[in-house]
Amino acid sequence: MGVLRNRWTWFGLLCIVACFLNAFVTVQAFTGTYGINYGRVADNIPSPEDVVMLLRAAMIKNIRIYDANHSVLKAFRGSGLELVVNVPNELLKDFSSNEDHAMNWVKDNVQPFLPETYIRGITVGNEVLGGSDQELAEALLGAIKNIYSALNNLHLTHVVQVSTAHSQAVFANSYPPSSCIFREGVAQYMKPLLQFFSHVGSPFFINVYPFLAYMSDPEHINLNYALFESNPGIYDSKTKLHYDNMFDAQIDASYAALEDAGFGHMEVIVSETGWASHGDDNEAVATSHNARTYNYNLRKRLAIRKGTPFRPNFLVRAYVFALFNENLKPGPTSERNFGLFKPDGSISYYIGFSGLKSSSASSPVLSLKVQIFSGSLLLLFSIIKF
Ligand SMILES: *[C@@H]1O[C@H](CO)[C@@H](O)[C@H](O)[C@H]1NC(C)=O
Repeated sequence: MGVLRNRWTWFGLLCIVACFLNAFVTVQAFTGTYGINYGRVADNIPSPEDVVMLLRAAMIKNIRIYDANHSVLKAFRGSGLELVVNVPNELLKDFSSNEDHAMNWVKDNVQPFLPETYIRGITVGNEVLGGSDQELAEALLGAIKNIYSALNNLHLTHVVQVSTAHSQAVFANSYPPSSCIFREGVAQYMKPLLQFFSHVGSPFFINVYPFLAYMSDPEHINLNYALFESNPGIYDSKTKLHYDNMFDAQIDASYAALEDAGFGHMEVIVSETGWASHGDDNEAVATSHNARTYNYNLRKRLAIRKGTPFRPNFLVRAYVFALFNENLKPGPTSERNFGLFKPDGSISYYIGFSGLKSSSASSPVLSLKVQIFSGSLLLLFSIIKF
């Protein structure tokens, strides 16, 4: 009897532990710290197959796209690259009111490509809150919940994480970082959203652009602070923390707003950050030199695998914006010049990545193969050496 009761006790305990673990095991949608946004608003960029080669040669593992284009999902099959797809804003109102449409979207655009294509996340909507469309803001949470329950019904929530990407427009007072809160008019949508994300274990995705912040207030912001170059930095007297770059400060501003809203344990992931290499006359800091400096220093910042001053235990992870210059993007000239790579696959400027081709004379695929070959040799030598 005693033995039996013991067994049952153990069994019960195991069940409790299993339930506990299950509740806390969440999808890890990001490998390492460096990712890139593969924006495709262009009519001159390489094919998705060539892009896969480019990404593998650059050893960039995490990729975000702004739709769920099937040619891309097919090209990524078996590549080992981890992909976050996006439900475009135009679909949110429909998905919020029609659960079956959300289900159909997941059945058409996610489920058939798993598991060969590593779809790790879905961002439902981009920069919705803080924008001008009130109905869209109202639809956001419903759409997210319906996409999540579709994944849940298909038993995919352990593989695919659901989130949405925000712009800086959701914040008020981001200086100093500790004073940051969610803006009036945004908080009413943000809080239930965070409640849901905290329940399902999703991170907070934020777009961080020191480039835009600098341009909005060049008299008061040191360009070197925005570019991760040597500068006096800023001091946050409330937290007694010092910031020597704006990227870290903007991430900590997000953490401060989350804490103020009651979600101090949520992780922040940077869904976009970058610097334009060319711009209009009133975008004078959009130069190739500054873009290179920002992206080179950002890459170093991410490679050290460290948290921020306020959240030292959360590694900073970011998707850089963007892979290519996108010639069909509307807006100021800078919008079409955020790419680390030119449309033909060659590098825009050197930050340690090699392109699909180095000169216009050579075949892109051939020269990439040579680069992969020499890359493997290099790897081989470094293995032998160590
Ligand atoms: C998907 O991407 C391919 C390759 O870039 C393109 O030819 C096609 O038009 C895209 N499909 C949609 C629906 O956008």
